[in-house]
Amino acid sequence: MFNIEEFDIKLDTDYLGRNFVYVEEVDSTNKFLLQTKEYQENGTVLLAENQTDGRGRLNRTWLSNKEQNLTFSILLNEGINPSLINIINLASSLAVAQSIENLYQLHVELKWPNDVLINKKKTAGILLESSSKGNKIERVVIGIGLNVNQPNFTGKYNIPPTSIRLEFKKVVSRERLLSELLNNLEELFTAVEHAPDKVLNDWKNRCKLIGEKIKIISGEETKFGIFEDIDENGFLILKTQSTKEKIHFGDVSLR
Ligand code: BTN
Repeated sequence: MFNIEEFDIKLDTDYLGRNFVYVEEVDSTNKFLLQTKEYQENGTVLLAENQTDGRGRLNRTWLSNKEQNLTFSILLNEGINPSLINIINLASSLAVAQSIENLYQLHVELKWPNDVLINKKKTAGILLESSSKGNKIERVVIGIGLNVNQPNFTGKYNIPPTSIRLEFKKVVSRERLLSELLNNLEELFTAVEHAPDKVLNDWKNRCKLIGEKIKIISGEETKFGIFEDIDENGFLILKTQSTKEKIHFGDVSLR
C-alpha cells in the first residue's frame, strides 16, 4: 500500500503532484489521463498499483508487478511549447536518473530516447503521449514506469530489466522516491524553458553511447553509423559514411 502522507511530506513542488490521484487498478495511467476529462489540473499525477494494459514505447507492453513499483503518469496542459516536447521527454528520464543518484548513490546511465539504466539493465522507461486540437497541443501525458522493489523478472524483455532493490540490495521507499522525482522534475521543467541547453548537456553526460558505433532499428529500417550527438531538439544525429541523419525514434544498441 502506498502511503500518501509519507509521499506528501517530502513533496516540495508548486504544481507537480499537488493533485495526486491514487488508484488500485487501471488499464493504463497514460491512456486514462489522456482520455478522461475528469482531471484538468496541470501537474496532476495518477499513480496505479496495477495496470492491466500498461503501454510501452513503440507499441510494446509495460509489465510491472502489482504494488512493488511505480507506474504513474503526469498531466501537463498549460503553456506547452510544442518545440520543447522532446526536451521535456529527455528531462523526464534525467529526473529519474538524478533521483536515483541522490537517494541511493547508484550510477545511472541514460539511453536515447529515454531509458534509464543501472549496470546496463533497464530500471525505468518513459512514454510521452499527447493530444491536440488543430495545431495546438492540449494535453501532454508523461508516463513513467520505474522498477523499484520488484525482486525478480520473468518473461521476455527487449533490454534486460532490473529494479532499484536488486541494484541497491535493499527495499526502498516508493513514497520518498516519487516525491524526490517530482521535485527534480519540476525544477527541470523550469530549466527546459529557460536553459534547454543545460538540460541537454546534463542528459548527454549520462549517455555513454555518444561517439560509439551503433545500430538503430527505426520502424522497418535498421541503420548503422556513429551516434554523433543529440541536436537542440532532442533528436539523435547518426553519422554514416556519406551523410548525417536525424533520427526521430527507434531502438539504439551498440554495433
Ligand atoms: C518504455 O517502453 O520504456 C516506456 C514505458 C512506460 C511505462 C509507463 S507505466 C505508467 C505509464 N502508463 C503506461 O501505460 N505506460 C507508462
